[in-house]
Amino acid sequence: MTVPTPLIAGNWKMNGLSAALGEARAVAAGAPAKGPRVAICPPATLIHRMGEALAGSPVKLGGQDCHPEPSGAHTGDIAAEMLADAGASLVIVGHSERRADHGETDDLVARKVMAALRAGLEPIVCVGETLEQRQAGEALSIVTGQVRGSLPTALGGKAFSVAYEPIWAIGTGLTPTTAEIEEMHRAIRATLRELFGAAADTAPILYGGSVKAANAGEILRAAEVGGALVGGASLKAEDFLGIVRAI
Ligand code: PGA
Repeated sequence: MTVPTPLIAGNWKMNGLSAALGEARAVAAGAPAKGPRVAICPPATLIHRMGEALAGSPVKLGGQDCHPEPSGAHTGDIAAEMLADAGASLVIVGHSERRADHGETDDLVARKVMAALRAGLEPIVCVGETLEQRQAGEALSIVTGQVRGSLPTALGGKAFSVAYEPIWAIGTGLTPTTAEIEEMHRAIRATLRELFGAAADTAPILYGGSVKAANAGEILRAAEVGGALVGGASLKAEDFLGIVRAI
């Protein structure tokens, strides 16, 4: 069985002014040369300067979202090509905050994945259920449905990852049990196999939602967990490196 190379990605969300670049420099200095792949996805305003801060380190740079089109009259949006031009090699698409705040559908997320591929970016495609959906016993069907709807067939043979982020675990300090994480990650892996065959076995399935250094070891050792997408605990280098070292 192919084991994906783990990825630990920090999602800074709408956080970070110039002064925060010092944290990125500290991550660059402390990230192990061998071990998981490490990435930081800063707000768009910092991407270029963060690229300079991370230069020469193994830490990769990612965007938090991209528009499906390469250019045009879309005020406030950012094209995948612009992220690549600014030094990014990855991009998060379909984060639940984008789905909720901006009404993003699976179909739109799939178009954003296509944009990422067009620009040579590796997409991190986010999926996850609400608390109501979990309580109604619908979590597996909702999430595997999002995987089917958000991952276009063009991803076959390409580098990508899926991030399972239960919405009720994001920023709340709550996490699913290890058994719940494993059940979901196995279901996502089975869906990826159906969609892309064994070629997708190299795609890591990240867990996201209140990951911190204290719980990272247990989560990252769980079956089919190929890394983490980290929000709050990625903002401080020490916290983030604690997660990187837990793998
Ligand atoms: P959190 O966010 O680690 O702050 O819960 C994770 C995410 O939304 O990617």
